[in-house]
Amino acid sequence: MHPMLNIAIRAARNAGKVIVRAFEEPNKIEVQQKGSNDLVTNIDKDAEAVIRDSILKSYPDHCIVGEELGEHKGSNTDYQWIIDPIDGTANFVKGIPHFAVSIALKIKGRLDQAVIYDPIRGELFTASRGQGAQLNNKRLRVSKANELMGTILATSFPNKHKHHLEAYTKSFQALFTQTADMRRAGSTALDLAYVAAGRVDGFYAIGLKPWETIAGQLIVKEAGGLLMDFAGGNNFNESGNLVCGFPKLSQAIVKELRPHLTDTLLR
Ligand code: IPD
Ligand code: CA
Ligand code: CA
Repeated sequence: MHPMLNIAIRAARNAGKVIVRAFEEPNKIEVQQKGSNDLVTNIDKDAEAVIRDSILKSYPDHCIVGEELGEHKGSNTDYQWIIDPIDGTANFVKGIPHFAVSIALKIKGRLDQAVIYDPIRGELFTASRGQGAQLNNKRLRVSKANELMGTILATSFPNKHKHHLEAYTKSFQALFTQTADMRRAGSTALDLAYVAAGRVDGFYAIGLKPWETIAGQLIVKEAGGLLMDFAGGNNFNESGNLVCGFPKLSQAIVKELRPHLTDTLLR
């Protein structure tokens, strides 16, 4: 195993302990409103600090960027770690046991290592570039679905982008008509991990942040999936609009979505 993946796993497990302890003692959770429909808690910040410390202990000169604590500028800019300490904070706050820690490492700008850890179920999804994706050391493959019929797609509602609601609901209707069912479980990182595991066939969503998809991107790719933006390109880190699944399924999702989207969403 790549030594940096090992450190990412250790960091995720350390953060997981803090998160689960608080989940079991909800009176210790302090909720703040970060923006409209955007929550943060003291535990998100504590978990991110734990991850940072775990990484910096082994690699004090690396760069880190996280959702809650922002940027740590290290002297070695070849290594950049990207963290979402709790993806699914609203679930965490409401007592719904479905959220994850997401940690990715880019080396010289290239996505190299990824961990998504569900501390409630003890499920550890990992990937190293060119080495495949694993769930608790078992190899992952995306489902072989190559058309919409019979599939279950995961999605995320545009709760922070309600100006896109009309385009979203129209495209949802188009896809829902063709597929067997949809899931909106509340953690994008786990949605992507579940695509990699073949638990859902595909995924699409509007307005995602890089820290919640970056680890999932490598895990899906290494499990044989194809990621694209709504125009079929690879601008998803910039636009935040992401589709993934077995390559032919990703193409089928994009084809069905496109006619219902505004120009802004196709950029
Ligand atoms: C949230 C999750 C969720 C998505 C929300 C995100 P957070 O992340 O990824 O799936 O629908 O828009 O904010 O805020 O819990 O890290
Ligand atoms: Ca988060
Ligand atoms: Ca997130």
